[in-house]
Parts: sequence; structure tokens; C-alpha cells
Amino acid sequence: MKRIKILAIVGSLRKESYNRQLALAAKEILENRVDFSILEYQDVPLMNEDVEFPAPEAVKRVREEVKSADGIWFFTPEYNHFFPGVLKNLIDWLSRPVSDEEPHVLAGKPAAISGVSPAITGTSMAQDHLVTLISFLNMDVMNVPRLVISNVMQQLDSDGKLALKESYPFLEKQANAFVSFIEKRIMCKEMLSNKYGPCRQS
Ligand SMILES: Cc1cc2nc3c(=O)[nH]c(=O)nc-3n(C[C@H](O)[C@H](O)[C@H](O)COP(=O)(O)O)c2cc1C
Repeated sequence: MKRIKILAIVGSLRKESYNRQLALAAKEILENRVDFSILEYQDVPLMNEDVEFPAPEAVKRVREEVKSADGIWFFTPEYNHFFPGVLKNLIDWLSRPVSDEEPHVLAGKPAAISGVSPAITGTSMAQDHLVTLISFLNMDVMNVPRLVISNVMQQLDSDGKLALKESYPFLEKQANAFVSFIEKRIMCKEMLSNKYGPCRQS
């Protein structure tokens, strides 16, 4: 089987983002087994239908990166019990058809969700909203396991970096589960021809 490509989408543009650090920890767990990269999308403009066609260069680039990935792993903070607007803006761009012939690039893509927050409630509400959106867009969501890390301040090292003490095994578990989830989808696609319809068994 070819080497799997996982693209991480972090819902925070902050340089020291804990969610970005969580994505980097997942990369470290998986990098011997998969190609794991983080999508950079700071330059994607605000969605405005006046500038939708032709697509801005940054939008073309992120679409290509999503298209070439076998799975998308979202790492989202929670803003006001929702996921951040920058992530919604990115997904709005990705949700649009590429051309008259090509559908949008998220449809059918395996997706996993994690998130870390300083609050006691973690990012569960943000994640629930994100699941609603990406399910509407027909992504193939791995709902179990999802990873909600709360109280992040208790898992920092002396430099204030994410040290992932008790949460590390849960991240490992989710990483392994997501790789298996994607592998099954790839095998399933290889085994079944289109006439049998979409292959969604877990
Ligand atoms: C506009 C805004 C709203 C926020 N609302 C929430 C919230 O509803 N729940 C929560 O747990 N944290 C909330 N926070 C705190 C963020 O979770 C915290 O800043 C977190 O570290 C952001 O993720 P990052 O470290 O990946 O950038 C909010 C932060 C901002 C800027």
C-alpha cells in the first residue's frame, strides 16, 4: 500500500497555538508511518463571492493540498463555544466546487477531530459544531475516538510548551485509529468498483 498522507488543519493562527503543538505531537507519533503535514492558510482571503472566480492563488494551493491528502485531521480551539472563524472561512472556500466538472475537495475525505483548551469543558462544543459542518459537506468522519483535552495549563512544561502528560496515550490511540480508518477506506476503494457504490464500512 502507498504511504498515507495526512493533512492537519489547525483552527488557530497563533504562533504558539496549543492546537498547533498538539498537531506537531501527532506528527511525531506518526511520522515514521505516514506523510504528515500542517496546512498553512493564513493567506486565504475572507470568502467573498465577488472574488471567488478565478480562485485566488492561496485558495488554489490549499485545495490542491486537501485534494492530495488521504485524510484530514482537524485540531481546533474553542472560541465562544464554537470553532474559530478562520477555520469556518477556510472550510467555506474548500466547500465550493473547483469547476463545473469538479466537486468540492472535502467530499468523502476521511476526517478526525481533536482539540485542546485551557477551559474545563475542553473543546467539545466546538468539535460538535465542526462535526455538523463537515458531515453536511459529506466528509467521512471518524467520530470515535475524538480527543478533547481540557485544562491545558496542567499539561505544560516549565517553558510553557505543551508537554501532554496524561493525554499522550489518548493522542497515540487516536493517531493509530485514524491511520487504520484511512487504510480501510483505501483498501475498500481498491477492492470495490464504483458500481457497488460508496464504501463506508468501518
Ligand atoms: C474569541 C475567543 C473566544 C474564546 N472562547 C473560548 C471558549 O468558548 N471555550 C474555551 O475553552 N476557550 C475559549 N477561548 C480561549 C482559547 O481556548 C485559548 O486561547 C486557546 O489557547 C486557543 O487555542 P490555541 O492555543 O490553539 O490558539 C477563547 C479565546 C478567544 C480568543
